[in-house]
Amino acid sequence: MDPRLAVIPFRLGGVKRIIVVCSGKGGVGKTLISTLFALLASQRGKRVGLLDLDFHGPSVSVVLGCRGCTPLEDKGLIPVEVAGVKVMSLDFFAGSAPLPLRGRDATEALIELLAVTRWGELDLLVVDSPPGTGDELLDAVRLLKGVEALVVTTPSKLALSSVSRLVGLLKAARVPVLGVLENMRVEDDVNVQRMAAEWGLVYLGWLPYDRDLERALGDPSALFSTSVSRSLERILETANLLA
Ligand SMILES: Nc1ncnc2c1ncn2[C@@H]1O[C@H](COP(=O)(O)OP(=O)(O)OP(=O)(O)O)[C@@H](O)[C@H]1O
Ligand SMILES: [Mg+2]
Repeated sequence: MDPRLAVIPFRLGGVKRIIVVCSGKGGVGKTLISTLFALLASQRGKRVGLLDLDFHGPSVSVVLGCRGCTPLEDKGLIPVEVAGVKVMSLDFFAGSAPLPLRGRDATEALIELLAVTRWGELDLLVVDSPPGTGDELLDAVRLLKGVEALVVTTPSKLALSSVSRLVGLLKAARVPVLGVLENMRVEDDVNVQRMAAEWGLVYLGWLPYDRDLERALGDPSALFSTSVSRSLERILETANLLA
C-alpha cells in the first residue's frame, strides 16, 4: 500500500468537519461560495481551512488575492493564512514549488497534497472541487473520510442536468448532502427548489447575481461587503453551518 495513504488520516486527525462544495457543472460559483464560506466561518471565530482541489484551474487564490504565496515547509507543508483561513491550493505549486508535487496525475497530486499538508486543529475544512463528476471528485470523497457535500447550481437547465448526475453519484458514494444552494439567480422561479425536492435534498436558498462582485475579487474585506456574501451568511446561518 502507498504509505502516504496511511499518513492522510493523521494529517486530517485534528479536523472536526469537512464540507466539499460541488456541482456537476463548471462556472456555477463553487470557488466563490467555498471561499466565502471559509471567510464567513473564520469571521465567526471558527478555525477554518480551505482546500482548493481544482487541478485544472485552481482559483481560490485569485478570490483571496494570494496568488504566488507559498506554504512554509516544516515537517510537511503549513498552509498559507489569509484573513484567518488556512489555505492550500495546487496553485501554490504552479511556479517555484517549495516541495514539488510528485504526482503524475490528479490522483497522485491529491494524495500528495493531503499527505503533506499540516492543517492542525480545525473546526471546519471547506473543499473547493473541480467541475464535473469525474475521478477527481470521487478520489476526494474517498480520501476525505466523513466528508459532507454542499451542492451548488445555477437555475439553468444545463446546470441542473449535470447536477442530477452528481447527486446520483454522491448518493451512491453515501456522502451526506447538506443541501442545494442556488447561485446567480436573476429572476423568480422555483426550478431549483423543485429539483431539490425531486432529489430528496434540502433547498438551502439562493444568492443573487451581483454585478459588483468582480471588483471585490482578490480582497477578502471587500468580499464581505458584497450582497452575495451577505446572502450567503444568512443562508449558512439558517442551515446552522456557521454555529
Ligand atoms: N452570485 C454571483 N454574482 C456574480 N458573479 C458571480 C456569482 N457567483 C459567481 N460569480 C462569478 O462567476 C464566475 C464563476 O464563478 P466560480 O469560479 O466561483 O465558479 P466555479 O463553479 O468554481 O467554476 P469552475 O467550475 O470553473 O471551477 C466567476 O467570474 C465569479 O466571480
Ligand atoms: Mg472553481
